[in-house]
Amino acid sequence: MTTTSVSARSRLDPEPVARRDFLGLSALWAAGSALAFAMLGALRLPKAAVLPSPSRKYKVALPDTLAPGEAFVPPGRNVAVFRDGEGVFAVSTVCTHLGCIVKTGPEGFDCPCHGSRFAKDGSVTKGPAPRALAWRKVSGSGGAYVVDEGEDVPAGTKVKGDKA
Ligand code: FES
Repeated sequence: MTTTSVSARSRLDPEPVARRDFLGLSALWAAGSALAFAMLGALRLPKAAVLPSPSRKYKVALPDTLAPGEAFVPPGRNVAVFRDGEGVFAVSTVCTHLGCIVKTGPEGFDCPCHGSRFAKDGSVTKGPAPRALAWRKVSGSGGAYVVDEGEDVPAGTKVKGDKA
């Protein structure tokens, strides 16, 4: 009695892929995909990801009705501009504790975040703020002034105003 092998393959059966070939094709596919994604990422690079910020130096026209010692906060800006008998000055409204924007009030500034209080000259009257609000550079005269939020000046620095 003889035994015959049943391993005869049909012509229609697909060729089996060798393990080495499969791994090579997989590596090639992964490298091609990585290259394609890198090229897609490179195409996105020329677009700006952030919007340009507004200038930190700008003109401010004080209202004629601004009373001495009353704060004027230019819309969208982080300073309070004051006019008193000695001149015009600008105090930053960025809290020196953690950077919240302080609110102006009749007595000075109140920070809504942790309760710090500042006098109108920016000095701390209640913590936890560690130091006074910064004074910003003001120049100009005749009712039109230029405030520079990028340049600090010593507290007490005032520019002579038209109504000072
Ligand atoms: S950020 Fe103003 S008190 Fe904390």
